[in-house]
Amino acid sequence: MEKKTQSSQRLVLFPCPYQGHINPMLQLGTFLHSKGFSITVVHTHFNSPNPSNHPEFTFFPIPDGLTADEISSGNIMAILLALNANCKASFEQTLTEVMEKEPQNKIICIIHDDIMYFSEAVARHLNIPSIMLRTTSVTNFLARSAVLQLHSEDHLPFPDSLSLNPVPQFHPLRFKDLPTSNLDTFENYSKLAVNAGNVRTASAIIWNTVDCLEQSSLAQIQQQCQVPIFSIGPLHKIAPAASSSLLEEDTSCIAWLEKQSHKSVIYVSLGSVASIGEKELGEMAWGLANSNQPFLWVIRPGSICGLNWNETLPQGFIEAVGERGCIVKWAPQREVLTHGAVGGFWSHCGWNSTLESLSEGVPMICTPSFGDQKVHARYISQVWRVGVQLENELERGEIERAVRTLMVDDDGEGMRVRAKDLKEKIEVCMKRGGSSYSFLNKLVELIMSL
Ligand code: UDX
Repeated sequence: MEKKTQSSQRLVLFPCPYQGHINPMLQLGTFLHSKGFSITVVHTHFNSPNPSNHPEFTFFPIPDGLTADEISSGNIMAILLALNANCKASFEQTLTEVMEKEPQNKIICIIHDDIMYFSEAVARHLNIPSIMLRTTSVTNFLARSAVLQLHSEDHLPFPDSLSLNPVPQFHPLRFKDLPTSNLDTFENYSKLAVNAGNVRTASAIIWNTVDCLEQSSLAQIQQQCQVPIFSIGPLHKIAPAASSSLLEEDTSCIAWLEKQSHKSVIYVSLGSVASIGEKELGEMAWGLANSNQPFLWVIRPGSICGLNWNETLPQGFIEAVGERGCIVKWAPQREVLTHGAVGGFWSHCGWNSTLESLSEGVPMICTPSFGDQKVHARYISQVWRVGVQLENELERGEIERAVRTLMVDDDGEGMRVRAKDLKEKIEVCMKRGGSSYSFLNKLVELIMSL
C-alpha cells in the first residue's frame, strides 16, 4: 500500500456480534490501524471479542439488554432486532463519554456492520460521519432484494414443485437457492433486511468482496447506489489480523496436518452458527470414513442438535478411521486452509469461509444451511465451478463420492484447476494496480477527507 497517513484520528468500529461478522470488522480495523488511524471497537457484552488479541485497539463493551432467554433461544434474527432496539442509548452515551474524555482524539468516522443499523442513527445524531461494512457477498444482497420483491408479489413462500425452477432474471439461482431463512418469521427477516439494506446517511459502503468474483453484481449495485462502494476484499488477506475467534482454537490439528501428504486432507467445518441432527452427523462420519481420504473435522460444541460433544460420534467410527481423522472443537481455519496438506474444504459456505477457501485455491463441497450460504453454494458449483453441492439429504454414499471427486478423481480435475486460477485472479486484485488495492487507497483518502 501507499505510505502511511500521519493521522492519529480515531475511527470507531461497531461489529455485529457473530463470528462471521467480527472477523472481517477486526481485519478492517487492523488495516486502518496500519494506515495510522487509532481504532476504538465498541461492542456488545454478548459474544464480545477478546481485547487481549488486539492490544493495538481500544475496546469498549456496552450493555446490550439481551435476556438470558433471548440468548439461549438461539434465534439470531430476534437477537439482532433486539440489539438494534437496545443498544442505541448505550452506544451514544459511550461515544459522548469518549469524546469528552479525549477531545484531542477526534472521532472522524463510525464504521458499522450494516446489520447494526442503529449505529447510523447514533452517528447522525452526534454529527459524526458513518460508513457501512457489508460482510456477505454482493450477489446475496441482490438476491435478498429479490426475496423481498417476490414476497411482495405473493410468489413466496414457493411450493416444493418450484424449488428447482430458475428465479426469473437471476441465473443461475433456483428458488431453493434464494437466501431465505427458516430461523424466524418473514416479518422479522424483512425488517432486518430492509433496515440493513438502507444506506441512509452513510458516506460509503465497504464491501468484503473482490471484483473478479462478483463483477456483474457489483456493476448492478453501483448503479443502484448513490454513495461510493469500496470492494476491498478478501479482508483476511489484506490484513491478516490476529485471531478474533470466540471459541478457543485447537492448534494441535496443525501438527496432525504436518504428517499428511500434499493436498490429501479434506477439511470439514460448518461454521459458527449452522447445526445438524444426529442422523446427518452419522452420515457425515461414515461418508468421510468410507472416502478413505484423511480428514480434519470441526465439530463445534452445541452444533449437533440434542447431543453433547462427547456423545456425538457413531459407535465404531473412531476405531474405523484411526489416525486418518482429526476432530477438533474449533480450528485455526485460515491457517488450516493455507496448509499444503489441505486439498478440499467441505463447508456450509458462509461468506468468510468461501473467501478464505477461494483465496487459497481450495475446491469445495457445499452443504449450505440457510440464508446467504445457499447463494454462495450455487455460485461455487455453477458460476466459479470450483466445487460440488450436496443437494439432497446428507447420505454417506453421496458424501463418499463427492469427497473422491473433489480430491482425487479425474472428473474433479477441472474444479481443482479452476480453484487455482481463481486464487491467482484474487491475488492480482490485491496487488498494486488491482481493484482491491486501489479501493483500499481510495477508502483511506475518503476517510481522511471526512
Ligand atoms: C454466519 C452465517 O452463517 C453466514 O451465512 C454469513 O455469511 C456470516 O455469518 P458463519 O457460520 O460464522 O457465518 O461462517 P463464515 O462466514 O464462514 O465465518 C466463520 C468464520 O469462523 C471464518 O472466518 C472462519 O475462518 C472462522 N472459523 C470457523 C474458525 O476460525 N475456526 C473454525 O473451526 C471454524
